Amino acid sequence: MNMDRKTFIRSLGLGALGAASGLSLNGQGADESLTLAPALLAYGAISDADFWRTVRAQYPLDPELHYMNTGGLGPAAKPVLRVFFDTVNAHQFKSDTGHDTFHGHRAIVAEYFGVDPSEICFTRNATEGNSIIAGGLALGEGDEVIFEDHAHPGGSGPWFNQRTRRGVASRLFTPSTESVEENLRRIRALITPRTKVIQISHITAPTGILLPAAEIAKLAREHGLWFHIDGAQTAGMFPFDLREIDCDSYATSGHKWLGAPHETGVLYIRKDRNDEVLPISAGSYTGPIPGTLPGNGTIGYMDDATRHEYATRSAASLAAVAAAVEFQNRIGRVRIAKHGRELALHLHHGLAKIPTVEVLTPTNPELRASITTFRTPKLAYTEIFDRLWKDHHFRCRPVSEQGLDAVRVSTHLFNTADEVEQLLAAVHTVVTSA
Ligand SMILES: Cc1ncc(COP(=O)(O)O)c(C=O)c1O
Repeated sequence: MNMDRKTFIRSLGLGALGAASGLSLNGQGADESLTLAPALLAYGAISDADFWRTVRAQYPLDPELHYMNTGGLGPAAKPVLRVFFDTVNAHQFKSDTGHDTFHGHRAIVAEYFGVDPSEICFTRNATEGNSIIAGGLALGEGDEVIFEDHAHPGGSGPWFNQRTRRGVASRLFTPSTESVEENLRRIRALITPRTKVIQISHITAPTGILLPAAEIAKLAREHGLWFHIDGAQTAGMFPFDLREIDCDSYATSGHKWLGAPHETGVLYIRKDRNDEVLPISAGSYTGPIPGTLPGNGTIGYMDDATRHEYATRSAASLAAVAAAVEFQNRIGRVRIAKHGRELALHLHHGLAKIPTVEVLTPTNPELRASITTFRTPKLAYTEIFDRLWKDHHFRCRPVSEQGLDAVRVSTHLFNTADEVEQLLAAVHTVVTSA
């Protein structure tokens, strides 16, 4: 790595990563146009609008594109990609797995979630984390899990899989847009003597309803149930502390609101319940394997969450997850959350003024954050989505789940107030010209 690049990474506050990982970052860097970002100025040094424009300039996004689908897939910032590509190159340079660097990345990620590094397992995506919990808990025929009928396939699939494999039954509630209490009531009403697990999407994928995680944790505790959170839509959207929430496990993707590269994820399992989740894949790194074959097949498991981190991994992806966390820390997690939510609320109120448009996301701040979903009876959701995309270059997300026939908009740190104004004008044009 030449001096300019070193200075550049240090200027972004990401220099610690190389040190934490022991990397010399020797290889060739990635294409400069992908990873060279202008300096990120301190918040307060320039106007708010200019600050968020410089944040946007940290992303290698097509300038013609208004990207508002972070809930589906979030772009990684240039400094994060720089760490990713440099780590790939450095490890290829020595043909090294980089396994000894994982502890540094794990510590950074654990701190971000307010937990112990031993409770963090790196995964490939949220679905894998959800599957480790659904497949790893000791459940059997007739045991029940409660989750919401708005769950993404990455949240429901692992449980339907357990129905096929082990006869575990699912009991579903419809998330309420009314109040925290109503969501608690709906979950409580489904608890039976056979209930073993409650799972929620921290924020639901189709309409962005924030579910009361800490209150549900309390309810689960009172009934002796395992409480798992599918956090694909919250890690990186707003700050929270998993210890304070008091859940048993939490799975998320790196490649959404966290802004890590594709195929990254994090699973948290609280250490005092670690032993209750047996690995669904065992091999190198998951624990002691009998050395002599044929043996009696008895294997041991690591006594921390790394028991699920089987086999060879991409050290570059893990380095980039840590870099994404540090990138957010540098900008400020509260600031990011406030920005995303303000844009979402502005959008919400603007959409509600467009004749026939119905916003499905609640306005109550206890029940929402940076996702806004809307529809109109005048147009099929696919038509709105297509026209916003083809005529106005807005990448949103069509919502077909539960017959909602709507369009979802995610507003994150690289989106700007100007873009929201343009989106409102575009929706107005699309809807009123129909
Ligand atoms: C709530 C929820 N869970 C799980 C997933 C699946 O995420 P991944 O593809 O990272 O497994 C998504 C994706 O949108 C989601 O919104």
